[in-house]
Amino acid sequence: MIIDFIINIAYLIGALAFVWGLRLLGSPDTARRGNIIAGAGMILAILAALFQPIEGASNNYGWILGGIAIGGIIGFISARRVKMTAMPQMVSIFNGLGGACAVVLAYAELIPFYAGDKALDTAGLAIVMAALLIGGVSFTGSMLAFAKLQGLVKDSQVILPKHNIINIILLIATLALGFILTISGQPAGMLLGTIFMVLSLVYGYSFVAPIGGADMPVVISLLNSFTGLSAAMTGLIYGSQFMLVGGILVGAAGTILTVLMCDAMNRSLLNVLIGGFGGGGTSAKSGDNGQLAKEVGITDAAIQMFYSQSVMIVPGYGLAVAQAQKACKEIDDLLEANGVEVKYAIHPVAGRMPGHMNVLLAEADVPYPKLLDLEEANEALKNTDLAIIVGANDVVNPSALDDPGSPIYGMPVLQVWDAKNVIVMKRSMSPGYAGIQNPLFFHDRNRMLFGDAKASMNKLASEIKNL
Ligand code: TAP
Repeated sequence: MIIDFIINIAYLIGALAFVWGLRLLGSPDTARRGNIIAGAGMILAILAALFQPIEGASNNYGWILGGIAIGGIIGFISARRVKMTAMPQMVSIFNGLGGACAVVLAYAELIPFYAGDKALDTAGLAIVMAALLIGGVSFTGSMLAFAKLQGLVKDSQVILPKHNIINIILLIATLALGFILTISGQPAGMLLGTIFMVLSLVYGYSFVAPIGGADMPVVISLLNSFTGLSAAMTGLIYGSQFMLVGGILVGAAGTILTVLMCDAMNRSLLNVLIGGFGGGGTSAKSGDNGQLAKEVGITDAAIQMFYSQSVMIVPGYGLAVAQAQKACKEIDDLLEANGVEVKYAIHPVAGRMPGHMNVLLAEADVPYPKLLDLEEANEALKNTDLAIIVGANDVVNPSALDDPGSPIYGMPVLQVWDAKNVIVMKRSMSPGYAGIQNPLFFHDRNRMLFGDAKASMNKLASEIKNL
């Protein structure tokens, strides 16, 4: 009795730690603490589960602890080694494995049910089928997302002709079989249950196949919410409020993130899921009217920065690739020491994952109040002397506002051309993720500073020190 009480209290504290941790993850200042608190809640819940005696189960602690040790070591090593730019792949694998757990747990419920050793009513069966379907989709979908992001698989290798129609047929067939299995109960038999699981796995793969490279982070976030839902379903199967709460939190967080990312790109989720945005593209040597992009040298750029009153740094994916965040902070310190006001304009989808730029800049100890969101930055840019674009491209593309034919038309962008002067730092005239030309490069007030962002930033810092 008393042990049950203690275990329930431990689950409750674990669930509260999740909620509190998630709250703290909302700001870079408190995110690390939030992660530790949520992790501690998880450890507490695992300990409580280990002490919970389950009727009829063998409680094989050897297997359980072995699994925890192997999974823990692999997770620890891969989390330490992963590069920031490969984080979406990492998240994808973790999602997928969460979905796979839900599939295994739900399938393990079906075996005794169809053998006649365990009773499940219609509601119970519906939950098991939902866990199999959602877990299966998030498992194979996430694995394919990982393979695409890692460059192991090309989009063209997995897309079939009329793929979206195939997906609709597959989805209808899977849902229909799940429905039949739920209402017909035990007579349906294990074979149909297994076919349903296989169909769910196939659908997950096929669902992600047509989605383009640029949209993968959105899909990963969606699959993350599916994993949360499948964990919540397994929480229902086992009557565990802790799994239910944890699963719902992950499901809700993933859904909110998916919606925010779609909003920031001004695209509907359906448009993302149908695919066909981004990738490819060629670089342009001249603008629409034949004008050429003008270059600036390191010394001139350094002078311009040093004698400006206000500078707005706009980081993008290239800053992450070049790992130029610390060099950026050095320039910031040098300029501030000379009385220049330095701010950072953060676009919600700059980089390749939500909060990418915030995390990088926090790593370089850039104070959080210096980071302006899209609206604040666009307001401030009107009174800014110099905007410096560090490896960003799509998020500063004016076509989003004035070219209805552009694939990014309608996406809110940072209006850097409102600043008195603009410098774009990148290695070439290559396009960004959306694969489209950027007219900003040919703008009257813009100058291109070609080179790797970190190398250029370091050279600029030495020049500024000599001024
Ligand atoms: P991008 O438009 O992808 O442009 C990045 C630019 O960085 C490239 O044009 C590249 O040009 C430059 N670059 C690469 N390596 C560099 C280096 N070492 N040094 C200097 N420059 C370098 O980046 P963005 O403006 O951050 O936009 C993000 C894109 O990703 C958007 O299209 C967005 O919709 C998409 N996306 C983002 C997310 C999230 S959540 N962040 C999710 C889904 C999609 P060079 O090759 O010429 O150097």
